[in-house]
Amino acid sequence: MLNKKVVLGISGGIAAYKCAELTRRLKERGCEVKVVMTQSAKHFITPLTMQAVSGEMVSDSLLDPQAEAAMGHIEFAKWADLILVAPATVNIIAKMAAGIADDLLTTLLLATDAEVAIAPAMNQQMYAHPATKTNLATLEQRGVKIWGPGSGEQACGDVGAGRMLEPMELVELVCQEPNEQVLLGKTVTITAGPTREALDPVRYISNHSSGKMGYALAEAALALGAKVNLISGPVTLTAPIKSQLYPVQSAQQMHQQAMALAPQSDVFIGCAAVADYRAADIAEQKMKKQGDELTLTLVKNPDIIADVAALKANRPFTVGFAAETQDVATYAKGKLKNKNLDMICANDVSVQGQGFNSDENALTLFSADSETSLGLTDKRKLALTVMKEIATKLI
Ligand code: PMT
Repeated sequence: MLNKKVVLGISGGIAAYKCAELTRRLKERGCEVKVVMTQSAKHFITPLTMQAVSGEMVSDSLLDPQAEAAMGHIEFAKWADLILVAPATVNIIAKMAAGIADDLLTTLLLATDAEVAIAPAMNQQMYAHPATKTNLATLEQRGVKIWGPGSGEQACGDVGAGRMLEPMELVELVCQEPNEQVLLGKTVTITAGPTREALDPVRYISNHSSGKMGYALAEAALALGAKVNLISGPVTLTAPIKSQLYPVQSAQQMHQQAMALAPQSDVFIGCAAVADYRAADIAEQKMKKQGDELTLTLVKNPDIIADVAALKANRPFTVGFAAETQDVATYAKGKLKNKNLDMICANDVSVQGQGFNSDENALTLFSADSETSLGLTDKRKLALTVMKEIATKLI
């Protein structure tokens, strides 16, 4: 139980309907929740609903003498341990970045010295707009925590980044222990997602990696204070704002980028599912159907992590992943040794609900002198544990 005092600031987006669930779950975890709503938020969820679930009067006006008499807005701002704006629309994000205080919520946000977090929720095009990116970067620089957004289908029918994180994801973030900055001053380079090996202009060989595990590692490393380079194959996820994203397609491109960044890194993590082989020749034109069989000649791709681990100068602490469907420990230990890695995170990808394209995973971490099993859990949580474990191994 947490006893955290949370002001939940609801602004006017469709995801506001999730705030009833969010409030209930926060209270279950021992948080005290006071709700502040903007005028437009009330079009999406009623103050009465929020009053019922929070068990407290809902505040929505700076100029309400009764509410001010009960708890003045400055007192309110001081009461909070955390102000969470969820959903945070483009409008309130822009107001926060500009320091505008034209209603109760924006005034509280300027009057507080509590931790402030926002859960952005907006159309994907609005999220991608340079104005929004700049505003989010400004807030992040000021120490505001940016939680999400997630990706997927949106209320308007678009698909992309801009969905508010789910209530339980936000609850986990509210309740997490403050992270020690154990990776402060360190640079962590992570490969994530699949690679795509072209066969012709429209076809490729790839795999089911979603990038979730690698992106979670990037978030975790940032949370522990590291500077993060994220070399990513094609995925639909949004890179954490503070990370430096290097998008690539093929194993060869990933290899080139990795070899450029690895010598400047303290830690290199190969979480990408890299294609071991690529087409010997990429057809210039779309291949035509011919006969009942087609023989493709494949040639070996460079082994990225083995080449990083073989660096003679400025070799980073090198961590691989092993995706196995059988004899997980034996194969993982083999890769640890053969690729000369410092650590390998083995996942059994034959089990449904973990590994490729799932939200959860289970890992066993092997190094020369240790073996640590981490049970099935959310990839974000797991990533934090992995990054903390790596931090203990750095000199
Ligand atoms: O992306 P998600 O959907 O979240 O799924 C996560 C994951 C299952 C992809 C991830 O947890 C994982 O296991 N990644 C490694 C997958 C893999 O390709 O394993 P491997 O056993 O084939 O490769 C072993 C190691 O060598 C890996 O660190 C890999 O990045 C690296 N490798 C492999 C081939 C190659 N040519 N170059 C490499 O660097």
